[in-house]
Amino acid sequence: MSRRCPSRSGAHRVRLRSDLRQPCLHATRIAEYPRAVHAHRMHNQGLSNETLFGRLLRAFREAASLSQEELAERSQLSWRAITALERGERRRPRPRTVRMLANALNLPDQDRDRLFASVPGAEAGQHGGWSTLAPVVAQLPAAVVDFTCRGAEVDQLASRLRLAAAGPSATIVAAISGKPGIGKSTLAVHVAHLVRPDFPDGQLYADLGGPDALVESPADVLAGFLRALGVPPSAIPVAVPERAALYRSLLAGRRWLVLIDDARGEEQVRDLVPGAAGCAVLVTSRRRLTALAGADQCHLGDLDVDCGARLLGRIAGDGRIGSERWAAEAIVTRCGGLPLAIRVAGAVLRRKPHWPVARLAGREAAGTPEPAPGSAPDS
Ligand SMILES: Nc1ncnc2c1ncn2[C@@H]1O[C@H](COP(=O)(O)OP(=O)(O)O)[C@@H](O)[C@H]1O
Ligand SMILES: [Mg+2]
Repeated sequence: MSRRCPSRSGAHRVRLRSDLRQPCLHATRIAEYPRAVHAHRMHNQGLSNETLFGRLLRAFREAASLSQEELAERSQLSWRAITALERGERRRPRPRTVRMLANALNLPDQDRDRLFASVPGAEAGQHGGWSTLAPVVAQLPAAVVDFTCRGAEVDQLASRLRLAAAGPSATIVAAISGKPGIGKSTLAVHVAHLVRPDFPDGQLYADLGGPDALVESPADVLAGFLRALGVPPSAIPVAVPERAALYRSLLAGRRWLVLIDDARGEEQVRDLVPGAAGCAVLVTSRRRLTALAGADQCHLGDLDVDCGARLLGRIAGDGRIGSERWAAEAIVTRCGGLPLAIRVAGAVLRRKPHWPVARLAGREAAGTPEPAPGSAPDS
């Protein structure tokens, strides 16, 4: 069965092949874009061979309320070429083709750059004159260089996240909980970098700011993720459920890692969990997110004295602890094994290279405050 796709002018009526089952997107107004894209992706699941370029081209075209036929006419390319590009059947358009499309869509500079940068190989400068913007979405913050201990937790989380590549039936979710300063964010970022090769489509990151945060509602985070995924700002739906649906559609069938740091509770996270298997979510929160369906829980405790002393030594500088091991352990004990407090103590030692470690241990034991930076030097 075939169906007619009415153009707005009525001048370009095209009979679409039923095996493509492409909805009549050109009649879609911008406000209706997400539902249409969602429906389109649902229809095409299994056929999908899309590229970032194809997805961007489609999003820009729909945001301009143009049908494929209208874009073909404006750009002087064939309708067949445009469908092939959008469907990922043509994966590496020539610079001239991209220029014709960008001109026909009247794209502002930034969107133009994004379209050019999304062509495979563009980032390597193979197509002289193309934007240097990287099309890769790799939002993870830097890991700490002196990451110490937490071996069992790293193994547990990494093996859980790597299950995403083994064809599970649902999205993999892992949650890290613990009090402030215990090392949740540090562990999450460390593990995320470790498993990054298993998520070649990209990595998304959002810091929700914990229980006291005033911003970063799921709506804001979704908008940020959608922009990162190449959706033009004008095409981001207003309603949260539609934003979430578009987000899930764009991630479906792909391998993305999503890191959500410092969530207040499950309600902040649910909309950010991709729908289809293949993706993984790593979330940190001060409390255990037990109501997050299927989440593997990892609760962080204090560092033991040995790990704490090692961390102190690495922060303070090589060889600094040496024969003063007892003093380092005393400092760690005073810090209650809290990595944040150990880092502060280590930073003090680093700033005072002439101090014996025992001096800080003595100060702490005596409860003497550390002089503020820039105050008169100690005798
Ligand atoms: N395993 C670790 N190795 C090295 N530094 C750590 C480790 N865990 C925590 N830290 C340090 O402790 C501080 C607090 O860690 P963070 O991850 O921000 O805690 P949380 O997210 O639980 O509040 C940071 O300065 C971090 O670098
Ligand atoms: Mg944190």
